Amino acid sequence: MRKIAHISDMHFGSHEPLVTAELVKNVHAQQPDLVVLSGDFTQRARLWQFKEARDFVNELPEPKLVIPGNHDVPLFSIVARLFWPFSGYNKYIEPLGVAGAAYRDEEMAVLGLNTARRFTGKNGRISEEQIAEIEKFFADLGEGVTRILVTHHPVGQAANEVFVDLAFGSQLALPRVVHAGVQMLLSGHHHRCLSGTIEETEDREQALIVYAGTANSTRTREGDGNTYNLIEVDGHDIKVEVMRWVPGGGFKEARTSRYRYGGDGWELLPARP
Ligand SMILES: [Fe+2]
Ligand SMILES: [Fe+2]
Repeated sequence: MRKIAHISDMHFGSHEPLVTAELVKNVHAQQPDLVVLSGDFTQRARLWQFKEARDFVNELPEPKLVIPGNHDVPLFSIVARLFWPFSGYNKYIEPLGVAGAAYRDEEMAVLGLNTARRFTGKNGRISEEQIAEIEKFFADLGEGVTRILVTHHPVGQAANEVFVDLAFGSQLALPRVVHAGVQMLLSGHHHRCLSGTIEETEDREQALIVYAGTANSTRTREGDGNTYNLIEVDGHDIKVEVMRWVPGGGFKEARTSRYRYGGDGWELLPARP
């Protein structure tokens, strides 16, 4: 069994210091095997915001997998956006590798790819090169290894859930991502915490879609608040637990979804009483 703490959309510069401190405390208490940070570290890609984000990242337990979001690219400085879109991220968070960020152990393989671009504004893109990278990374893994893709902008919709904008290129990418054996897609960006299966692809294979909310920023959506996801991966069983900030009470379990992988793909199990 593996436990992932999936944290997103911190937006340092528009963050709540108290929530941030409790978040760090709560993640340590969960003893995750991996911390995934799926982008939007800062509000406006200012250096002081990256410094605060870096201090936060340093306080979280290892190992960590990090990718940038659209807010980590300068918005108002056109020169910086054109020529050094990821200089703050590279300097303070982690140097961006062409092949993305990767984590592997005997039970799971996780690939994080950057969907933020200098010219797409708040929207993102998944490129042909990145799809090829996904196919390469997830090829030749053992049977029992759960394959997980992390992007800031979602690449797939969860069935029966609210409709959101996906990264440009998702329509082409998603069938190939699923065909490459990816079983779970983690993302952030929309500040909504939700999960579900995707519609069947041509191959009749399926994957799980998991979005994280904003963990500690003031940019919350009504009804969602500040949340992060605790995801347990146990072979053909996946549990997604939404941890929500409760003023005065810290982060508490708010909602649990359990999925099991059978012959036809993932199935949502009935909620336990
Ligand atoms: Fe965001
Ligand atoms: Fe975003």
